[in-house]
Amino acid sequence: MKVLVATDKPFAAVAVEGIKKELDNAGIEMILLEKYGEKSKLIEAIADVDGVIVRSDILDAEVLNAAKKLKIAVRAGAGYDNIDLAAATANGVCVMNTPGQNSNAVAELVFGMAVMMARNGYNGTSGTELKGKKLGIHAFGQVGRNVARIAKGFGMEVYAFDPYCPAEVIEAEGVTALTDINEMYATCQYISLHIPATPETKKSINYDLLNRMPKGAVLINTARKEVVDEEQLVKLMEERADFRYISDIKPDNAPVFAEKFEGRYFFTPKKMGAQTAEANINAGIAAARQSAGFLKEGIDKFRVNK
Ligand code: 3PG
Repeated sequence: MKVLVATDKPFAAVAVEGIKKELDNAGIEMILLEKYGEKSKLIEAIADVDGVIVRSDILDAEVLNAAKKLKIAVRAGAGYDNIDLAAATANGVCVMNTPGQNSNAVAELVFGMAVMMARNGYNGTSGTELKGKKLGIHAFGQVGRNVARIAKGFGMEVYAFDPYCPAEVIEAEGVTALTDINEMYATCQYISLHIPATPETKKSINYDLLNRMPKGAVLINTARKEVVDEEQLVKLMEERADFRYISDIKPDNAPVFAEKFEGRYFFTPKKMGAQTAEANINAGIAAARQSAGFLKEGIDKFRVNK
């Protein structure tokens, strides 16, 4: 049996060693395809394997249709918007993610970027502190919970909005649960996004919502660029000189930010949230275990398609 590790943005070498060891122990051969750049190389490599482990790599219908022997695809990470679930199901492929395995890394980046923005990009001018500021966590999943934990260490006042998470669960973490999204945006100077990219959430972070945020607003996006309505964000930032945006990956209209909003934005050049050795090891090894468990014993815990 063979499992392909297809990562255009590679894992740390130590994580790849761990994945190989897990698969070796299960008697599965690991095939490694890193920095492949072109989809044709992925299509070629996936044709002959029983399983595949990916990160944000795109597994669309064309790729999945070419994967004649594929039975399991594991997204080593949380968001599986990069995988066409219907095409996977049609091809008899089980899709899983590895929830929680890289969430601390993403949460730490939230604060790495927030402090940098609060200190004006370390440009020598007097900045501000996070202590005492109100932070709104939009979606209280694994990353949101880690963000809450760290925010309390900074002395922030923490709020969360998540219609899918019971208020008691949020309150148990010492966070104020809000049931009205508008109230959270109107209350919090800092908002951190942790919603998945789905047809419902795409472009849902729009002008009306963001314009409710108080003076000195900072929007932090370590979720997906697609959830923000970029055109409306630009309109808002043109109108409000106090509004700042930090995002773990460039928006499509990044040149407009460079031209108009100097010092009021920061974008990582490549998605960096989960890019730590620890997160790579945790998510990579979990993905290897889940692949082996499925191929050898049919265990489909963490399955996300029907
Ligand atoms: C995730 O959904 O797990 C994160 O966005 C990390 O994605 P990455 O593996 O592409 O860095």
